[in-house]
Amino acid sequence: MSMTGTAFQKCINPDCGAEFDCGQAIFKCPACGELLDAQYNWDKIKVPKKLSEFERRWANKSNPLDFSGVWRFRDLLNFCDDKYKVTIGEGQTILQQNDAVAEYADMRAGRLYLQYEGLNPSGSFKDNGMAAAFSHANMAGVSSCACASTGNTSASVALYAHSCGLKATVFIGSGRIAFGKLSQGMDYGAQTIQIQGDFDDCMRQVQDVCTKLGLYLLNSLNPFRLEGQKTIMYRIIEGLGWEMPDWIVVPGGNLGNSSAFGKAFYELKQLGLIERIPRMAIINAAGADTLTDLVNNKKLAWNNGKVDQKIIDNYYADLSARNFSPHTCASAIEIARPVNLKKCLRAIDICNAVCRAVTDEEILEAKAIIGRHGLGCEPASAATIAGLRNLRAESVIAPDERVACVLTGHPLKDPNVTVNYHKENQGKFSNPPIEAPNDIDEIIKMLN
Ligand code: F0G
Repeated sequence: MSMTGTAFQKCINPDCGAEFDCGQAIFKCPACGELLDAQYNWDKIKVPKKLSEFERRWANKSNPLDFSGVWRFRDLLNFCDDKYKVTIGEGQTILQQNDAVAEYADMRAGRLYLQYEGLNPSGSFKDNGMAAAFSHANMAGVSSCACASTGNTSASVALYAHSCGLKATVFIGSGRIAFGKLSQGMDYGAQTIQIQGDFDDCMRQVQDVCTKLGLYLLNSLNPFRLEGQKTIMYRIIEGLGWEMPDWIVVPGGNLGNSSAFGKAFYELKQLGLIERIPRMAIINAAGADTLTDLVNNKKLAWNNGKVDQKIIDNYYADLSARNFSPHTCASAIEIARPVNLKKCLRAIDICNAVCRAVTDEEILEAKAIIGRHGLGCEPASAATIAGLRNLRAESVIAPDERVACVLTGHPLKDPNVTVNYHKENQGKFSNPPIEAPNDIDEIIKMLN
């Protein structure tokens, strides 16, 4: 606990631990280059004594901050004054118990819950983070912002930027983003820069551009974005009547969510608002499995903040030497150099998490099941169910444990993957259209 006020920024490297005012837009520790956290002086914040008290704010939902699924929990992310807070109705998402998907994943009925973050205004979980980050941008008094993206970040940035009157530039890898997402960024009025490269190339470029031109960076390097994403966990436990799940399953891309979720649970425990922390399963796509490979095979660990940087450097040097570029049908998580790697290692430690990679075939099959029996989702989100199914087969997760899978994006984000799966009969749940002549008798014959 230090600095004055309710919140401050702090370097996650325990050998550095430098602290900065919340008003600064810096994104990496100026002293040592490591990631920054938002930290709180909890003794200066009036946090409700019980989590159920947050629910009372529903009664006051004509106040936009109480309506927001992010700001309803504002005491747990108290880094800026209400006058700076931005909301466009994010976080009105649902937790659905789904027995048909449970059966597919070999879970007992009543034990599997799907958290539909695709129901956010821009169709993905990113809006949780943007509500918080754009509030910080307001507080910092910036006028232009930028991000690199596999698509959803750019859609969300573009939407929040125009609602806040900020100029937005989004960097995307040429040919690497799904059409629904690309269409949103353009429609919401962001300047779109298509770089000849993949997401990791875009991420490198945007950091340099933001530093050189003083643009506000909205990738999950931004610690305030992760503060907003913590609320996904609050809403899951709210949906469970303030009981804890046994497992949270989340796709792993740039590793912002997994990092934020670990921090959320750590803080709730520290505050005495929960008694136990659930376990977490982080699911990579097999074609972009840096985290899983580093943790499971190279034994990379948080180690009280003393992460073995050599393992990471060697790994990335090898990727470069092989000219490696990640490939998966789940384009949202097609990332080989996740910027939040170290925070994620910390979350793995907090949540006793496991990491797994799933193939594109497994993702597409799980996605078809979620579409057929649930509200649907985009490919990256379906990695959770594919991962859960494999973790059941390994008996890492028991059939009667209570599991919440975070479905991060809406099914309409990536219509091409869905249409191809069905039309080209790519899997056993393909449901292709049937060609019919323009003739009533022929059509009726086909329906019989
Ligand atoms: N699911 C979806 C639908 C995503 O768009 C992303 C990330 C993830 C999962 C992975 O989340 O990065 O927190 O591990 N999309 C980013 C983007 C990278 O640019 O839209 P993460």
